[in-house]
Amino acid sequence: MKLWTFVVLCVLGQGYAEDFPSLITANASIAVVLDRQFLGEQHQLILEKLKDYIRDLVRVELKHGGLAVHYYSWTSISLRKGFLAIFSVASCEDTWSLFSRIEGQELLMFALTEADCPRLPVDSAITVTYTEAGQELPQLIMDLRTMRALNWKSAVILHDDALNRDIISRVVQSLTSQINDKIAPSVSVTVYKMKHENNDYSTKKEIHRVLSKLPVKKIGENFMTIVTSDVMLTIAETARELLMSHTQAQWLYLIPDTDKQNDNLSARINSLYEGENVAYIYNFTDTRRHCKNGLMCYCKEMMKAFISALDSAVQDEFDVAAQVSDEEWEAIKPTKLQRRDGLLKHMQQHIETNSKCGSCNTWKAIAADTWGATYRQYVDSVKSLENEANTTNGVIEEVEMLQVGTWRPADGVRFNDVLFPHVAHGFRGKELPIITYHNPPWTILHANESGAIVSYGGLIFDIVKQLARNKNFTIRIILASTQKQNYSYASSTDIVHSQNAKISMAAVAKGQAALGVAPFSVLPDPIPGINYTIAVSTQPYAFLIARPRELSRAMLFLLPFTADTWLCLGFAVVLMGPTLYIVHRLSPYYEAMEIPRQGGLSTIHNCLWYIYGALLQQGGMYLPRADSGRLVVGTWWLVVLVVVTTYSGNLVAFLTFPKQEVPVTTIAELMEKKDVYTWSINKGSYLEMELKNSDEQKYKTLLNGAEMTTATGSVESYRSTGSYLLERVRNKRHVIIDWKMSLNFIMRAETEATNKCDFTVSDEEFMDEKVAMIVPAGSPYLPVINKEINRMHKAGLITKWLSRYLPKRDRCWMTTTAAQEINNHTVNLTDMQGSFFVLFLGTFIASSVLLFEWMYKRRKNKSDKIIIKPYTE
Ligand SMILES: *[C@@H]1O[C@H](CO)[C@@H](O)[C@H](O)[C@H]1NC(C)=O
Ligand SMILES: *[C@@H]1O[C@H](CO)[C@@H](O)[C@H](O)[C@H]1NC(C)=O
Ligand SMILES: *[C@@H]1O[C@H](CO)[C@@H](O)[C@H](O)[C@H]1NC(C)=O
Ligand SMILES: *[C@@H]1O[C@H](CO)[C@@H](O)[C@H](O)[C@H]1NC(C)=O
Ligand SMILES: *[C@@H]1O[C@H](CO)[C@@H](O)[C@H](O)[C@H]1NC(C)=O
Ligand SMILES: *[C@@H]1O[C@H](CO)[C@@H](O)[C@H](O)[C@H]1NC(C)=O
Ligand SMILES: *[C@@H]1O[C@H](CO)[C@@H](O)[C@H](O)[C@H]1NC(C)=O
Ligand SMILES: *[C@@H]1O[C@H](CO)[C@@H](O)[C@H](O)[C@H]1NC(C)=O
Ligand SMILES: *[C@@H]1O[C@H](CO)[C@@H](O)[C@H](O)[C@H]1NC(C)=O
Repeated sequence: MKLWTFVVLCVLGQGYAEDFPSLITANASIAVVLDRQFLGEQHQLILEKLKDYIRDLVRVELKHGGLAVHYYSWTSISLRKGFLAIFSVASCEDTWSLFSRIEGQELLMFALTEADCPRLPVDSAITVTYTEAGQELPQLIMDLRTMRALNWKSAVILHDDALNRDIISRVVQSLTSQINDKIAPSVSVTVYKMKHENNDYSTKKEIHRVLSKLPVKKIGENFMTIVTSDVMLTIAETARELLMSHTQAQWLYLIPDTDKQNDNLSARINSLYEGENVAYIYNFTDTRRHCKNGLMCYCKEMMKAFISALDSAVQDEFDVAAQVSDEEWEAIKPTKLQRRDGLLKHMQQHIETNSKCGSCNTWKAIAADTWGATYRQYVDSVKSLENEANTTNGVIEEVEMLQVGTWRPADGVRFNDVLFPHVAHGFRGKELPIITYHNPPWTILHANESGAIVSYGGLIFDIVKQLARNKNFTIRIILASTQKQNYSYASSTDIVHSQNAKISMAAVAKGQAALGVAPFSVLPDPIPGINYTIAVSTQPYAFLIARPRELSRAMLFLLPFTADTWLCLGFAVVLMGPTLYIVHRLSPYYEAMEIPRQGGLSTIHNCLWYIYGALLQQGGMYLPRADSGRLVVGTWWLVVLVVVTTYSGNLVAFLTFPKQEVPVTTIAELMEKKDVYTWSINKGSYLEMELKNSDEQKYKTLLNGAEMTTATGSVESYRSTGSYLLERVRNKRHVIIDWKMSLNFIMRAETEATNKCDFTVSDEEFMDEKVAMIVPAGSPYLPVINKEINRMHKAGLITKWLSRYLPKRDRCWMTTTAAQEINNHTVNLTDMQGSFFVLFLGTFIASSVLLFEWMYKRRKNKSDKIIIKPYTE
């Protein structure tokens, strides 16, 4: 079979076989590069030792196939020989340049290099850095940086005399040096040194002095302290006192003075507080094992790992090839890349389990799991409210340490978790107790028949759900009251004074809940023990008033002219009669022409009636014959023309466009009409408080004239409480002042109930009330929550969510009556009633005058009987 395959390969072509020989058919070959410059005098010695070692190793360990080894003394070799792997011992720079030249050739590279060297990518190469014992710190930090275990832009290094200067400058170098930016951007570093003091008191004083002077605003809050374990505890304590250990800061303690036999570090970390980000990397070297160090040790170790990997790879290929036909083998045999990855993995495992070089130097990383840890104790939600909780002040009683991983010079950082779990994963899925109560549209709780809360929603829960998603926690709901809730819409009063709000605030103040999830008004003097988050929403106040009605149309015919126009017109008529009479009377025309002044215009009474008739375009029987008189009449006709045309035009307009009351839309307008309107404010609301504190005159008047009601802001309460406020608004010129949102809900509910638009909400918004959630005072998570809420505000999420709960705009939102009504207006009896009134009035006056005339005649008859006078006319 072997022969057959060989034949096939030969037929397929020489190049193919050379490029990619199967391990079954061809011996693997490896290039061993021992850089003469790097090794110096040791070069010859190491080369010879290594040759012997590899020869023995191949004979003993490699059971299948063979290995062709090619030795080179410099890194600038040409690599066209179809190598399987390359092993280099060279300086950091040469190692990287060699690596960049073989990139894309899918070669396995394993390199031994000097300290403080960024490792080659772990998915395509193995890098071992050689350091003297006790000098490993800079390489460790370099590895943390290149493996992205520290995602820091800036670092503050605090150290004391325990470390020598050289190490510190190398540590700084490994953080700041320019490496390929894609691998690890450099970190800006500030270094502070603390003097080593002999007694505890002066150590503490010295630490306090250094920490209190740190300009954290400028240098950032990522601290890396390299101190002994005793000093570490003092620093932690001092940092806490100076409020430097909080959710936004990260503290990494590097502790060199421990070893595996004294692994009581976690026992010594005596106290941790809620919300801290603390991680420790400490020396975990096993001092009991006898471990060697040196370049040769590493060379042997790596070659051994390679031979072991190669042996098992050859073995695997034989096993698989034996089970399948040759054609199948051709199809499934590993590609060069697959083979490289297989060898790499095997080598890494081999080194991980067997490495002893580097004096068994090992460091261990642990992280404190602090966020949300104190809330573990409140397991039973009902009980926790009843019991008086122990105020913990954020001290975590049972500190849980996460085993993050280890570091060794041979295989670098091997972490199975992140160094700062809370920075990366927030609360790590912990459960936080939150207290809430039903208060739509902020919090909406749905209960099933048996009264258990099955779902929750509302604006604030939308925010909390987003918060939980971003900060990786789950919520456990504590209800402020267990009694069944009535579904109604909240208003200001409810928020400040309801029993539920008081219970919630008390519970949060006692630290029984991590967050109070309900709308709490931000008061300037809250109860002690709580802090508000930044405002979730800002609610302006407005007032609800009856929609401006159409003015009565009874006197429609009077509307076209204002009162003074009517008055002028009346005077004109009254004056024009006598004027006409006088002009007519004085005119010499009649004497000259010898025409008798007969008929209509010869009395003042007739002249009046004539002018009046002309006004109504009725004309008279007689006209003056003199030009003077005619001119008077003529001009009057002109006046009549203008007046009448204007009047009828306006009358049509008034018929088609009904006239509205002047609407009241601002507080100032309301105050102007304070004799007509009454208004009410909820007792004990935020508004009442704000008005009391206000200096503005109009607000003082507003408060003094207000009726204090106890309505809870719901539609039902406004419909039914004592004085039937809504009915009063509808019919009796009353005004309700409340949150604009609540008023909109009321308006909407009333429109649905009556299908009429009886109300309108004022345009003017005044006295913004801020609504926020609450946390226990001094909660470390307040900045975290605020930051998240701020982000939600900026992304427009909160506005979007809120708009889902607000009443939809309907036809009643428009201030004027619908346009169609105007277009379609037909004149009806109400429009015409005025003219009928006039008719009645005229008839009535006529009857009165008739009566008067009768009486006049009777008296005249009576006096005629006494004085008999011949009737002459
Ligand atoms: C493979 O190596 C073995 C021993 O190491 C040797 O005997 C054999 O000739 C080599 N085969 C080839 C094809 O080079
Ligand atoms: C770590 O511990 C070992 C053994 O105690 C010691 O030899 C080595 O110097 C320590 N490392 C550092 C950086 O001090
Ligand atoms: C911790 O180790 C130190 C020695 O480094 C020892 O003196 C001390 O007693 C140990 N403490 C505990 C609690 O084991
Ligand atoms: C408060 O703490 C003390 C001491 O730890 C304990 O005895 C007491 O039972 C605790 N009280 C409650 C209500 O948990
Ligand atoms: C939440 O925390 C868990 C537990 O630590 C973690 O596995 C998960 O990745 C975290 N999720 C997010 C989105 O950070
Ligand atoms: C209500 O929900 C609770 C908790 O989920 C459940 O135990 C109870 O059976 C439910 N009751 C009804 C009537 O569905
Ligand atoms: C809510 O209140 C209204 C009126 O105040 C009442 O008719 C209704 O029965 C109440 N609903 C519940 C569930 O208590
Ligand atoms: C939290 O509340 C306390 C008083 O209860 C107050 O002194 C403190 O300034 C508040 N903190 C913030 C961030 O508002
Ligand atoms: C006017 O009224 C008629 C009947 O009352 C109606 O059919 C028509 O749609 C109305 N026109 C408008 C513009 O609303």
